[in-house]
Amino acid sequence: PITRLADYRPSDYLIDRVDLDLRLHPTETRVTATLALRPNPAGEPGAPLVLDGDELTLLAIALDGQPTGPGAIDVTPRSLTLHQPPQRPFVLEIATQVNPSANTKLMGLYRSNGVYCTQCEADGFRRITYFLDRPDVMAVYTTRIEGERADTPVLLGNGNPVEQGEVGLTRHYAVWHDPHPKPAYLFALVGGRLGRVASRFTTMEGREVEIAVYVEPGKEDRADFALDAVARSMLWDERTFGRAYDLDVFNVVAVSDFNMGAMENKGLNIFNDKYVLASPDTATDADYANIEAIIAHEYFHNWSGNRVTCRDWFQLCLKEGLTVFRDQEFSSDERSRPVHRIAEVRTLRARQFPEDAGPLAHPVRPQAYREINNFYTATVYEKGAEIVRMLRTLLGPETFRRGMDRYFATCDGTAATVEDFLAAFAAESGRDLAAFSRWYEQAGTPTVAVSGTYDPAARTYTLAFRQSLPVVATEATAGSAPQPLVIPVVLGLVAREGGPVAATSERVRDGVFVLETAEDTLVFHEVAAAPVPSLFRGFSAPVKVEHALTRDERLTLLAHDGDAFNRWQAAQSLAMEVLVDRATADAPLEAEAGPEAAGLSSALATFLDGEALADPAFAALVLTLPGEQEVAQTLRSEVDPDAIWRARQSLRMQLGRDLGPRLLSLREALAAPAGAPFSPDAASAGRRALRNAALDLVAAADPQAGTALALAQLETAATMTDRLAALATLSLVPGEAREAALARFADTYRHEPLVLDKWFALQAMIPEDGTLERVRGLMRHPAFSLGNPNRVRSLVASFSLNNPTQFHRPDGAGYDLTAEVVLALDGKNPQVAARLLTAFNTWRMVEGGRRRRAESALRRVVETPGLSPDVSDIAGRSLAAA
Ligand code: ARG
Ligand code: ZN
Repeated sequence: PITRLADYRPSDYLIDRVDLDLRLHPTETRVTATLALRPNPAGEPGAPLVLDGDELTLLAIALDGQPTGPGAIDVTPRSLTLHQPPQRPFVLEIATQVNPSANTKLMGLYRSNGVYCTQCEADGFRRITYFLDRPDVMAVYTTRIEGERADTPVLLGNGNPVEQGEVGLTRHYAVWHDPHPKPAYLFALVGGRLGRVASRFTTMEGREVEIAVYVEPGKEDRADFALDAVARSMLWDERTFGRAYDLDVFNVVAVSDFNMGAMENKGLNIFNDKYVLASPDTATDADYANIEAIIAHEYFHNWSGNRVTCRDWFQLCLKEGLTVFRDQEFSSDERSRPVHRIAEVRTLRARQFPEDAGPLAHPVRPQAYREINNFYTATVYEKGAEIVRMLRTLLGPETFRRGMDRYFATCDGTAATVEDFLAAFAAESGRDLAAFSRWYEQAGTPTVAVSGTYDPAARTYTLAFRQSLPVVATEATAGSAPQPLVIPVVLGLVAREGGPVAATSERVRDGVFVLETAEDTLVFHEVAAAPVPSLFRGFSAPVKVEHALTRDERLTLLAHDGDAFNRWQAAQSLAMEVLVDRATADAPLEAEAGPEAAGLSSALATFLDGEALADPAFAALVLTLPGEQEVAQTLRSEVDPDAIWRARQSLRMQLGRDLGPRLLSLREALAAPAGAPFSPDAASAGRRALRNAALDLVAAADPQAGTALALAQLETAATMTDRLAALATLSLVPGEAREAALARFADTYRHEPLVLDKWFALQAMIPEDGTLERVRGLMRHPAFSLGNPNRVRSLVASFSLNNPTQFHRPDGAGYDLTAEVVLALDGKNPQVAARLLTAFNTWRMVEGGRRRRAESALRRVVETPGLSPDVSDIAGRSLAAA
């Protein structure tokens, strides 16, 4: 069945209060829900009450304390219907039984490593009890959790703890009360043996909050960084958005089996332990950055998601896009803003652009879905965040902040829509945001073509813009031509010899030109000499830019642009031209380098000499070539992943040769002094990033020298970042040294699943024919399990999503392996299976032979009987006519 935004109607009934009583048991957990219901004045009078369920067993039901009469209700595992509900407030008491140990979908109540935990977003609460499981039904919850004291000494729920006590000889209970009305998807509980670290935070409103992070016992020392990140997030949200925390406790629990990254349940965030646990010996700098960002993300949901929630799941971007924007801002403030912006754009281009260009493309606010869990996508999250950022650029930071205040003030305690969000900014700014709102409705990445002309006689410089949007066949846009978008272009002019050009244009305010028609021109006056335009500074809009700059103009921007993002972009564009040329010509690995590549090398040499040591993190990004997927996106059709890999490899080899001595001396200069204490801060991480980027290029040019350096680094490394970078370098050179190093690493970390995940991932990404067999072999490794999402992602998804040459093997074996795992997984965990299947997103872009093999693998999936809705939805849409 398809759910459509256009069909939204308010619920016929509301639930004001929920009293839950859960008796935890590994296989027979009993749940008694007492629901205070009433007819919704906005609903249909007299309508039957239809509660959602999913794989539920009803034990008992009572209406206002009385058993229901014969024929009064209909019950299936998927629904409970009360045919003639009282047309006044009434109470339903419903007892159900669930089996947490058999719950391999990891939705609803399940056990992870013996710990009872829940995941209810989007529709998992109905796997615990019959309910109106929709976000616009908001209730106040009181939860009593009872369990064996030995198995579940820790019992956590939403809100504040109110009571605890003994039950008989072996059991105990805890009661939690959450005063803030919330939708069922924010419900959570945890019961288990857990270690705890805690601290206190006093809010700007004077509330004393106890913050705690719960982890597997013995791993408490790995929770300190996350705990600190919670406190920093609380402070930041007060200072930046005026948002204070609103309960007496804030708990974070790490579990090892989790479908996504983490979940913002009210007062009780549940995390994939990968995004909590960190120690210098086991976590990379990237892990530290992710932990900080995801802790912040879930905490920020307390306002953007929980206090103001979504009316229906079509509004998912209302909480996710906004919250991603907020966590990105947090990381930018806590770390380096330009470096973080580049990282954001790289993710957007690597994940969202391909999604928007493929068969799974959808608007940031979709109009229809078959399976909502398939819409937790890069488009909803990352493009959704870009829309919020554009709004700030268009309105300016002060008006934007006032709009946010108004949004929180007017929508607090409600289930809101994108329209409500935009209305707050329209009211605050006095602007009509109707045209801007098209960003939420139209799928596909816009292209903006720009050309510049200088008129020396008139001393004018003219920029001509043309925007175009691909026609994406989605429910919303089918048949209608896309309408122009409102595109903020942050720009400036740079003098050829460096320095900004002071020129004026009445249409540029605070450095922003707004393109809102299909075509437009912008004229600068009093321009003394032909400038180089720097466009879309800071990546001011999620668009592809077609701007025919010459190589020299790009070199000018790389050297002189005042905008760090565009300096990086200039280097990327220079590299992309080389990569596209070489991939198109299908140049052999050793083909003579052209003048473009040489020009890039010498520009990078100058750049490194001048400023690598001043900002190593930025320099590391400048040295990193566009990824294979990004090159594929630029080529668009008849893509040969092997040709792209060769193009990239040969450019890496050349940069390594040309810059070798410099890279080696940078490595020396940036080496941490022996015995220096470890710090995960951005500056230290940046130094490690540049040293390892240098290692990568040196090894590309001279595998022998690279191997020696990597072996030495592996020996002496004091951080997981350096150890893993060395291992990654070794992994690219076939032979004894690699296999020995891999074996030793596995042995050292045999008791560390999260570190073994890195080891799985690294091997799954080796761009060699033998990798497929290696992955099959590793699937039989004792540490691997199809039941654990982190293992599947690190081994199989790394292969299918991050190893383009091997996933797209010409013989189709990469497609077959992926399809095989998807089918094997689907019966256990459909959400993870469906996510893996999105690897086929790019199948139409690849050349004919591969395309036919990918298509037949997809057809085998789609024709398999008994598929989950999750997998059948992705497979079906992937195959749908282009
Ligand atoms: N709301 C969570 C977050 O972004 C994600 C939960 C997704 N869950 C799911 N079953 N799709 O923070
Ligand atoms: Zn989120």
